[in-house]
Amino acid sequence: MSELRYDGRVAVVTGAGHGLGRQHALELAARGAKVVVNDLGGDRSGVGASAGPAQEVVDEIKKNGGEAVANPDNVATPEGAQAIVQTALDEFGKLDIVVNNAGILRDKSFKNMSVEEFDSVIAVHLRGSFLVSSAAWPHLRENAYGRIVNTSSPAGLFGNFGQANYATAKMGLVGFTKTLAHEGAKYNIKANAIAPVAWTRMTEDLLPADFADKLGVDQVTPLVAFLVHESNEDSGEVYTVGGGRIAKIFVAEGPGYGQKETLSVEAVRDNWAAINAAEPLAVFKNPMEQMGPLIQQLTS
Ligand code: NAI
Repeated sequence: MSELRYDGRVAVVTGAGHGLGRQHALELAARGAKVVVNDLGGDRSGVGASAGPAQEVVDEIKKNGGEAVANPDNVATPEGAQAIVQTALDEFGKLDIVVNNAGILRDKSFKNMSVEEFDSVIAVHLRGSFLVSSAAWPHLRENAYGRIVNTSSPAGLFGNFGQANYATAKMGLVGFTKTLAHEGAKYNIKANAIAPVAWTRMTEDLLPADFADKLGVDQVTPLVAFLVHESNEDSGEVYTVGGGRIAKIFVAEGPGYGQKETLSVEAVRDNWAAINAAEPLAVFKNPMEQMGPLIQQLTS
């Protein structure tokens, strides 16, 4: 079985000072990539800053014989995002891979969630992924090569108590990823998203303790590494991953209900079962395709 290598590739991994990002950076570097290890170095809620965590990961990569450079900038500001990408260009001359992973938590029930708690979480996860990808985009286009992975979450895909801010950001990343996949297609830029489960400082008091040793970050990184490899041709997809299991998440549409006459509220009521039917499910690649069943009804 041939080994997947990343020799000659330059990767940015955001939030790589701890947890999942650290593991992504270590793995890519061990397989030949030159890595910008970005981390702001604050606590779990994003308070504080320190260049220490990013530098420690870089030291570890170098000790293992790999190439890496630390960057302590904030993904949530345009200047920070530009500086992260510029670090790759200055140190390694190009950029091929972006793993948007940086994240914080500010959980609160919706009733009690402040504007600041909403905005700050959106700023790191959603705006940060936008800003870093946006700074990288012209370079990826110019080289007609790019691999982007955005880090979504089951909490975003399915909703979760106390996480209106986080879930909004994480589902936003799905739309973002799918749009980058469309816009990147002709430049050989592939964008995918993961919804991981892993035992990190972010989840250590949220996940069942019995599973701690089974939910290692090393059970997530292989998917990320595969998605950013040049042999990956898939784009615009979302995968859940953790504990040794990977599955594709689909945004799917049921068979639905349609009628020729103008719809009434009673028709909605009377056909509620058909409207809610879950079989057969259809998965569409773009909004035009999604309009297919409607166009068929309008023209039949
Ligand atoms: P973590 O807290 O260990 O790592 C997140 C890293 O992001 C930290 O090192 C932090 O310093 C860095 N960071 C935070 N704000 C930053 C900013 N503005 N700029 C640069 N770096 C910043 O947490 P974990 O679990 O490794 O999370 C990584 C990603 O995976 C996050 O996006 C998280 O939401 C996501 N995720 C994790 C899950 C899990 O089960 N661990 C579940 C679903 C999603």
